[in-house]
Amino acid sequence: MAKQDDQFKNVISHAKEYGYIFQSSEIYDGLSAVYDYGQNGAELKKNIREYWWKSMVQMHENIVGIDAAIFMHPTTWKASGHVDAFNDPLIDNKDSKKRFRADVLIEDHAEKIYQKAQKEIEKARAKYGDAFNEEEFKATNTRVKDYLAKNREILERMARSLETENLADVKALIEELEIADPDTGSKNWTDVRQFNLMFGTKLGAEAANAMDLYLRPETAQGIFVNFLNVQKTGRMKVPFGIAQTGKAFRNEIVARQFIFRMREFEQMEMQFFVRPGEEMKYYEYWKETRLKWHLSLGLGKENYRFHDHEKLAHYANAAADIEFNFPFGFKELEGIHSRTDFDLKAHEEHSGKKLQYFDPELNENYVPYVVETSVGLDRMFLAVFSTSLKEETLEDGSTRTVLSLPAVLAPTKAAVLPLVKKDGLPDVARQIIEDLKWDFNVAYDEKDAVGRRYRRQDALGTPFCITVDHQTLEDQTVTIRHRDTMAQDRVAISELRGIINDEVSVRNWLLKMK
Ligand code: GAP
Repeated sequence: MAKQDDQFKNVISHAKEYGYIFQSSEIYDGLSAVYDYGQNGAELKKNIREYWWKSMVQMHENIVGIDAAIFMHPTTWKASGHVDAFNDPLIDNKDSKKRFRADVLIEDHAEKIYQKAQKEIEKARAKYGDAFNEEEFKATNTRVKDYLAKNREILERMARSLETENLADVKALIEELEIADPDTGSKNWTDVRQFNLMFGTKLGAEAANAMDLYLRPETAQGIFVNFLNVQKTGRMKVPFGIAQTGKAFRNEIVARQFIFRMREFEQMEMQFFVRPGEEMKYYEYWKETRLKWHLSLGLGKENYRFHDHEKLAHYANAAADIEFNFPFGFKELEGIHSRTDFDLKAHEEHSGKKLQYFDPELNENYVPYVVETSVGLDRMFLAVFSTSLKEETLEDGSTRTVLSLPAVLAPTKAAVLPLVKKDGLPDVARQIIEDLKWDFNVAYDEKDAVGRRYRRQDALGTPFCITVDHQTLEDQTVTIRHRDTMAQDRVAISELRGIINDEVSVRNWLLKMK
């Protein structure tokens, strides 16, 4: 645990030191769970967004993208159920005065039990090698069976209690499991109560006539209310999707995990409209397709797992998370939800307008069912950034910090370095930049010895360093150094664009999904 904490602290300090993420309003001591992206963070975030958009919108003939406003008519949130049901169960510790999400306390406890089972499984795998049959072991080993049953029992009971609003039982569960405040060990808890996560604000200058509004807690509703606009103007045929990326706001009860849980964050969502009855087929399709998208980034298959929901949101008939192995363990990265016709029907009822589709093949009108994919951009950022940050020991015993970001996402694709600041080398380096900057984000760096510049670019995550030396003046060649292997090749300046493009093009990375 201490190792995990240290690793997470490193991630946070590296993100600050290298211009990726700053605490919001830092000079005023910051704002809790709100963060600003710096010069490199903004680039990385944009690249993740574009990687998603390319894959989801431009690579699908039947998916289009929109950009709806953050402010929406307040009835939107009545219809969607957020006014009445977008709550988290909170609990306070009477001794430490700290506030927690009751469900998260229970889930973390259940996860620890699950991890005990995993540990036994890994031990047995190491012992039996190729002969190991995991399913058989899980079904026969009493200790593992008990751990897994206990884990399931806890999560199922919690889901039932939350479903039926039995908050007294949620508290009883916390007490029975002897869950303590993780920081102080105190088990002196208040009752559990519900807390609505939406931020309210006002529209209009005159206090008397001002309209109560909410900052949107999800981008999805901007898609639902535009369903017919897009379907008609785009002449879209079911099945089709509408995607968007944008800010969402939630007054999170506990927000202590850097950019994992923020009060202002960005989502990348897609609603896929299908014929009623066909939703499970598309639910499975999108589960698989979204996992492939994540895997294409090469962060390691072992870092992902599916978690099927026990407790379904008020709008869903099936839901799963893609969980990622963050520095603090496996947590939700993306949600895939079968939302039925809940949202469109609710908007029909509240607006009095029909939100139906005429299916020419069936010759009938219906309200389509919806399968949603929803991933947090900031969580993607954290997944990519934390997994890429490595301390390596080199052959000569020295160490280096390298941020081995997937090259397609790296903020700067290449740094061009004149070996010395004289003899015309800076001019040649500038010419190379002039040529490459049309296609890639490139940087110029002439300060310090070249070895130090390599290390700086490694820590920034730049996949290539291009060094201009005296030989360049004679034969128009440079050395190109690869961040991850540190291998250096001598190549002609004219080859640079092709070499960089092969490693960073969205096309080559997305082809890995096939
Ligand atoms: N439209 C469905 C929806 O909003 P959700 O599971 O509440 O579903 C989807 O959120 C994704 O948004 C999550 O998987 C997560 O990646 C991201 N997300 C949710 N709350 C967040 C927060 N407070 N901070 C950062 N990301 C968040």
